Amino acid sequence: MEIKACLFDLDGVIVDTAKYHFIAWRDLAAKLGFEFTEQDNERLKGVSRMASLDILLEVGGIQLDDTTKHRLAEEKNRNYVAYIEKMMPDEILPGAEAFLKELKSHGIKIALGSASKNAMTILERLHLTQLFDAIIDGTKVSEAKPNPEVFLKGAEALGVKPSECVVFEDAEAGVEAALAGGMLCVGIGSPVNLGKANLVVCGLNEMSFDKLRKLSV
Ligand code: BG6
Ligand code: MG
Repeated sequence: MEIKACLFDLDGVIVDTAKYHFIAWRDLAAKLGFEFTEQDNERLKGVSRMASLDILLEVGGIQLDDTTKHRLAEEKNRNYVAYIEKMMPDEILPGAEAFLKELKSHGIKIALGSASKNAMTILERLHLTQLFDAIIDGTKVSEAKPNPEVFLKGAEALGVKPSECVVFEDAEAGVEAALAGGMLCVGIGSPVNLGKANLVVCGLNEMSFDKLRKLSV
């Protein structure tokens, strides 16, 4: 099957926002009176905002009502947004922009498939918005990864079949979502947790159009 489109997760694939999520969640935990470590933060990768808060509260052994939880999630987000609003294009992960441009030069369509409700702010700050033919973010989906909704909507917006798409993902739930949607998947990170992907690379700097084409044969 010919590859016609590539769908990219944002956080951890195109940009390292995990460090800002970590600072904001750690500050919230400190306010609530417990420590939240970088290792705990690993569990939040690819997970929606409210599900992340549930994990954080589990770490702290705290139970709260829904109204309080929404207030705390908003507070964390305000803190997080203050960081991403200061992001600069030099924070784009190595090779990401060059790979997107290489794909474009070969006529491959490009979509974003991210759980984040802040994706537009981040893409604007990085001056990457124009490279995407479709943007599906946390404001446009109702089901979180590993549900394939975000990627299926991306394929639909691009007018391609799922079997013509390759997804780039750094989270295990994201890899599962891509495969559940009938797409090929390149894992960004370690084969230890992304082993189900069709190929695993350390970063987009290890990708090329040629490598992409070899995936489908
Ligand atoms: C994902 C991140 O891309 O977006 C998660 O990997 C994050 O860590 C999720 O919780 C939701 O992001 P936001 O910006 O809507 O809070
Ligand atoms: Mg990610």
